[in-house]
Amino acid sequence: MQFTDQLLVGLLEAAPDAMVFVDAGGRIVLVNAQTERLFGYGREELTGQPVEILVPDAIKAGHPAYRAGYMADPQPRQMGARIELAGRRRDGDTFPAEVSLSAIDTGEGILVMATVRDVRERRELQAEWERLKTQAERDRLERQLHQSQRLESLGQLAGGIAHDFNNLLGVISSYAEFVAEDVASKTPQQEWQAVREDIQQIQLAAARAAGLTHQLLAFARRDVIQPRALNLSQVIEGVEQLLLRTLGEQVELSTELAAGLSPVLADPGQIEQVLVNLAVNARDAMPAGGQLIVATASESIDADHAASRVGLAPGRYVSLKVSDTGAGMPQDVIDRAFEPFFTTKAKGEGTGLGLATVYGIVTQLGGHVQIYSELGFGTTFTILLPETSQAVEEPSSAPPAHQGGGGETVLVVEDEAAMREVTRRILARNGYRVLTADNGLHAIEVAASHTGDIDILVTDVVMPQMLGKEAAEQIRAHYPAVKVLFMSGYTPGGVLGSGVNLIEKPFTEASLLAKLHKMMSIRS
Ligand SMILES: Nc1ncnc2c1ncn2[C@@H]1O[C@H](COP(=O)(O)OP(=O)(O)O)[C@@H](O)[C@H]1O
Ligand SMILES: [Mg+2]
Repeated sequence: MQFTDQLLVGLLEAAPDAMVFVDAGGRIVLVNAQTERLFGYGREELTGQPVEILVPDAIKAGHPAYRAGYMADPQPRQMGARIELAGRRRDGDTFPAEVSLSAIDTGEGILVMATVRDVRERRELQAEWERLKTQAERDRLERQLHQSQRLESLGQLAGGIAHDFNNLLGVISSYAEFVAEDVASKTPQQEWQAVREDIQQIQLAAARAAGLTHQLLAFARRDVIQPRALNLSQVIEGVEQLLLRTLGEQVELSTELAAGLSPVLADPGQIEQVLVNLAVNARDAMPAGGQLIVATASESIDADHAASRVGLAPGRYVSLKVSDTGAGMPQDVIDRAFEPFFTTKAKGEGTGLGLATVYGIVTQLGGHVQIYSELGFGTTFTILLPETSQAVEEPSSAPPAHQGGGGETVLVVEDEAAMREVTRRILARNGYRVLTADNGLHAIEVAASHTGDIDILVTDVVMPQMLGKEAAEQIRAHYPAVKVLFMSGYTPGGVLGSGVNLIEKPFTEASLLAKLHKMMSIRS
């Protein structure tokens, strides 16, 4: 088959683009049907007119020069590959256009064929698509914000309950300990065996409950922590054995620990807890075995990246990535995973506190945690902890063995009567002279009216009327040599300075005595 005139005319008239033939002088010689439709002119109105009739006023003036430039080197090209071109209709309306040019040598001179396509619809679709994209990004950020606010209020709720509950546990376990000791001195031993076993159950349950309240306090960011500058890679090396034991034989552990990382400020116990919680979850997500990868790296977060995550500030971070090859999580689980008590596990198998604790710890350290998960392929937790300029501190040596006092005088300040009495009793029966006060003001009075030394002040941190810290300062004014031990299940803001002596509630008799012994053995 050959091109015939009839075929060529048919093609031209059926073309979806406007086609305008222009001679070397810039006059229109031929147009197709789409040109008539697009520009609103009849073809008899266009023939013989300068092509600028189809060009909007704004760019009309420069057009002849452009045309001359093209004629000097008439290569096929798409006009406006870089600039926004436009066409002008008969009614003066303009529209965004894409124009391609080709030169045809007719034997009687060169003709330029301009193919014009109205791209308004495409531009509008593009703009709409951009708008939807921006909207989706905004929705995503809003959802993140909503989630973090939700976690914030859950934290306040949980933290309040956990704090009170923690004190009760302190009382329960201390009295259980007293009774256990009484029983131990009874004879004949076999007759008391059953009672001893029962007491042991009470102690076990109290210890487990204390573990739970500490998870809640960690989530609520009220857990007492003593952060120090540490190297994340080193801490992870130190807990590798623990992780291996946690994971069991089915799961293969590999680590990719960056050398020469900048230090981060954290309590090593916190990092350990984060890793163990993530490892336990990973193990649960890989019942048939799999791989767990723990990796550290330096990470720099720029403003753009920070803007895409709620609660992430630009800056230098150390990242900790924990990836498993387990079951993965659907989006609705990812959305709620950090909530306390959210679990997809069977009753009795999951507490729903693992990730809540991770979240609390990481945010308390000024960091950020994010989940990436593909259902059926695995999960990656990315934790970012801000770098610190402080130098890495070496951990202090192991605490000395538990030992009683040598007649030193201790002032115990605690607003909760049961806790105060427990503390008094532990100290009194271990060779300390004990004074007590139920609040900070009262403590100052007791101290002022006491004749003789006060060697140690053991005080609650948060009490009505006066905080422990303020009471300690005033008492120190009378007794400059007094050593201060704070007792706390929580501190507002959660962080005491690293030089401060602190014991976590609930404490055991042994841990309180060890702490005091250590304090007394350091000369001030
Ligand atoms: N590595 C993981 N892979 C798959 N799902 C996970 C993973 N970690 C956590 N999850 C999901 O998040 C939920 C909450 O985890 P967590 O707070 O540790 O509570 P728990 O483990 O007690 O259920 C889990 O029940 C599980 O559905
Ligand atoms: Mg868990």
